[in-house]
Amino acid sequence: MSARLDDLPLRDDLRGQTPYGAPQASLPVALNVNENTHPMPEDVADDILDAVAVALQEVNRYPDREFTALREGFADYLGFGLTRDEIWAANGSNEVLQHVLQAFAGPGRTAFGFAPTYSMYPIITRGTGAAWTAGTRSHDFTVDAGSAAAQVAATAPDVVFLCAPNNPTGTPMPLDVIEAVYEATHGVVVVDEAYQEFAPRSEPSALALLPGRERLIVSRTMSKAFAFAGARVGYLAADAAVIDALRLVRLPYHLSTLTQAAATAALRHALTMLRMVDEIVAQRDRISATLPALGYEPHDSSTNFVLFGGVNDPAAIWQQLYDRGVLIRDVGIPHHLRVTAGTDIETTAFLDALASIDSRS
Ligand SMILES: Cc1ncc(COP(=O)(O)O)c(C=O)c1O
Repeated sequence: MSARLDDLPLRDDLRGQTPYGAPQASLPVALNVNENTHPMPEDVADDILDAVAVALQEVNRYPDREFTALREGFADYLGFGLTRDEIWAANGSNEVLQHVLQAFAGPGRTAFGFAPTYSMYPIITRGTGAAWTAGTRSHDFTVDAGSAAAQVAATAPDVVFLCAPNNPTGTPMPLDVIEAVYEATHGVVVVDEAYQEFAPRSEPSALALLPGRERLIVSRTMSKAFAFAGARVGYLAADAAVIDALRLVRLPYHLSTLTQAAATAALRHALTMLRMVDEIVAQRDRISATLPALGYEPHDSSTNFVLFGGVNDPAAIWQQLYDRGVLIRDVGIPHHLRVTAGTDIETTAFLDALASIDSRS
């Protein structure tokens, strides 16, 4: 026997909300949550295991609350002259974003993003008691500097999320849009670069914009490029004062000794992991190049996934792929579906399964 949610003294503003709920089905080909589909190379895994074994000997003690070695590792990896004082990390970039919202949003405040965008932004925002406001993109999911600045100025949010490149559409966001949004608000501007490593080298990182912009935050994750989704490690770069603000809301010792050791070791293999990114990009481009021949319309992607249109009935195609052992994502955009780039074998399985389905169904 179980009580119903309505029976509990739940916060009024959480009543009627739905939790994050991407289906977790164990199908042979899982291409639904933009994970890195390539297993970690053995030498990298061995090095991480060694580091975790050493860390285990100290697990009776609380971890380094300031995760100093890890912050130094991220500063080195990101470059741009960043130091560890300008780096923060947490259990996945979801928690990093939660820290930002706890510090800069909260009750009576507002966060803003251009829809469709990452589905967790509104959920984490509301979790802190703040309100979520959605702006709009043009039909091809881009947003230009003029429109972006006007929408942000009209809303006057406390936190702006710019997902660059954007999930679930794959769309890049040029730096001039980020600069215009920054000028248009007094709030903090979070550029979520979860997928930046998959973007062409010609699409620069917003890290270049950090100097002189103390309200700008650039967040990243190890879940994608570093094949570390299960380890839960995200991070951000910002002015050292922002980092001080985040210390006010984090739980002490939030990053475990084992997590810190594993992530620090994985970062030492950045070059190997980035070579894997190139292979994933090749699979993504193969999906984009093949879809038109199957009757679908892929959107340009700077990420490890492809959003494609021209789908008459997304739920029906999703189900037929599911029945063939392939899990992709119906992100709720009419006539669209999203697929993560797989290994060569997984990508072939997806394309073959899709080709076997009548695209008009
Ligand atoms: C745009 C974006 N930001 C953040 C995340 C969260 O990543 P994690 O919490 O695994 O670091 C995701 C995950 O899919 C994402 O797509």
